[in-house]
Amino acid sequence: MSTQQSIKNLLSTRFHTAMQAAGIPADCQPHIAPSKKAGFGDYQANGAMGAAKAIGKIPREVAQAIINNLELDDIAEKTEIAGPGFINIYLSQKWLAQQISNLRTKPDNAIKTETPQTIVIDYSAPNLAKEMHVGHLRSTIIGDALARILEYQGHTVIRQNHVGDWGTQFGMLLVELEKHLTDGEPADLALKDLEGFYQQSKKHFDESEDFANQARDYVVKLQSGDANMLKLWEAFKNISLRHSQEIYDKLNVTLTPDDVRGESAYNDDLSVLVEELKQQKLAVEDQGATVVFLEELADKDGNPSPVIIQKQGGGFLYATSDLAALRYRANTLKADRLMYFIDARQSLHMQQVYAIARKAQFVNNDISLEHHAFGTMMGSDGKPFKTRTGGTVKLADLLDEAIERAEKIVTEKNPNLDIIERNSISRKIGIGAVKYADLSKTRTNDYIFNWDTMLSFEGNTAPYLQYAYTRIQSIFRKAKLLPKELEGEIIIQHDDEKTLAIKLLQSSEVIEQVSKDAYPHLLCTYLYDLASLYMRFYESCPILKGDVSKVEKNSRLQLSDATATVMKMGLELLGIEVMERM
Ligand code: ARG
Repeated sequence: MSTQQSIKNLLSTRFHTAMQAAGIPADCQPHIAPSKKAGFGDYQANGAMGAAKAIGKIPREVAQAIINNLELDDIAEKTEIAGPGFINIYLSQKWLAQQISNLRTKPDNAIKTETPQTIVIDYSAPNLAKEMHVGHLRSTIIGDALARILEYQGHTVIRQNHVGDWGTQFGMLLVELEKHLTDGEPADLALKDLEGFYQQSKKHFDESEDFANQARDYVVKLQSGDANMLKLWEAFKNISLRHSQEIYDKLNVTLTPDDVRGESAYNDDLSVLVEELKQQKLAVEDQGATVVFLEELADKDGNPSPVIIQKQGGGFLYATSDLAALRYRANTLKADRLMYFIDARQSLHMQQVYAIARKAQFVNNDISLEHHAFGTMMGSDGKPFKTRTGGTVKLADLLDEAIERAEKIVTEKNPNLDIIERNSISRKIGIGAVKYADLSKTRTNDYIFNWDTMLSFEGNTAPYLQYAYTRIQSIFRKAKLLPKELEGEIIIQHDDEKTLAIKLLQSSEVIEQVSKDAYPHLLCTYLYDLASLYMRFYESCPILKGDVSKVEKNSRLQLSDATATVMKMGLELLGIEVMERM
């Protein structure tokens, strides 16, 4: 086999074979899971009861028949039957040691997928009319974590930043921009404060009839391809994208300008698409607009859900460009899987888009269309996070504050750092804290943003995990050894060594789970548990103390290194950086 399997998959395969040899039908599952309580082995196979039911036999006898046919000597020390027919599995210490040694040399081995797919991930997607604000944080960092994880597994990941660059607001923005340019102000300067610029043009739009009329005229011109308008629009778009790119870089998010494919990119396909939907009789004229009525999404009174795809007067809508984007991703990018990271408040919109795409056969039936919704980031008052005066919080300001706050803490803890190192550590801690606080919460829930908890060095936080990593590095500095110099036997003796080893090997199971369901908090919980188990091991299994034998020291250092490797890999998959000291 080319790739190493996770414990769970390996046991599942072995049990499955044994079950078939015992005359159990192939569709009966072995149900392998880590044991939850001490004294019940390391793993359990819970499938005997179900199998017994299927073939009408006594569960404990079926369990015994499975064990009789089981080939597990290389992996397990012993198996035993418990209760009504659970099979407890005690993993062999020698086998575990070998696995840890493999993990140290090739940490990604068990993580590589055997069935690579092309996966398009839609995330971040701010509207370019304004500056990025906290509302864009969740999509940006959750989407990026998934992009990293799937890529690491060996999938082809195509990032698509579906920015809003084509709405009617562009009319007023272009009129405003043109005024600044004719006054001799360069575009860069005029758009330095994008948010202020937006407010200003909105004010002019609301107050002046002439301005408003000109704005409407400019939208029409822009959308029909007027060269002057396009030039102004390009200038605006480029500057706004530069703002976003600065945020991505600061956030350590992997999006680049090449990943941008905004709403405007689908302009040419919109009328074609509407025509096709009409021909298929899916779209109908309704009060001057073109509408698709979806029975499958009817409300409780049975009224079908209306989706407007073209307004009276000809304008296209958000749903229209999303449909065009979807079929581009499926047919041109040849995606097997489409993942959208968008606020839960857009759930109906996504359901409508997916339903129409399926009905119109814009995509084949095998393609997986997934909306991974998330809740809202709340302030301490339990309402959506705002500035003190109730305004939207710019993402740039929030990130600067995070770094500043981290710097205070870092300086307090370690006043002797030189300024370059202090800045670098503060950035990693501040940004890491903001990202981790978000990623570690169940995605679908709202959560309360709290500076003090996220920056704490205790509990399930980024600083705690980053610190756990640096602690292992400092053990190596004390030992005056580099991890790569370690070789020789790993011995798993103490209970805490065994628990740690098993946890380490479970990293691949967790990553597989996250890549399926897109819940990064599972990886966070895993890393937190791992760090805690390491601390326990560190307490009970001394490494550098005088009376520790050379062999033991060498073995424990290897376990430490394996822990550091997995911590670093896990944090980096979440987009969080580690450091050698702090
Ligand atoms: N620009 C939209 C917004 O800010 C998000 C776009 C999400 N992606 C999509 N394909 N609809 O609400």
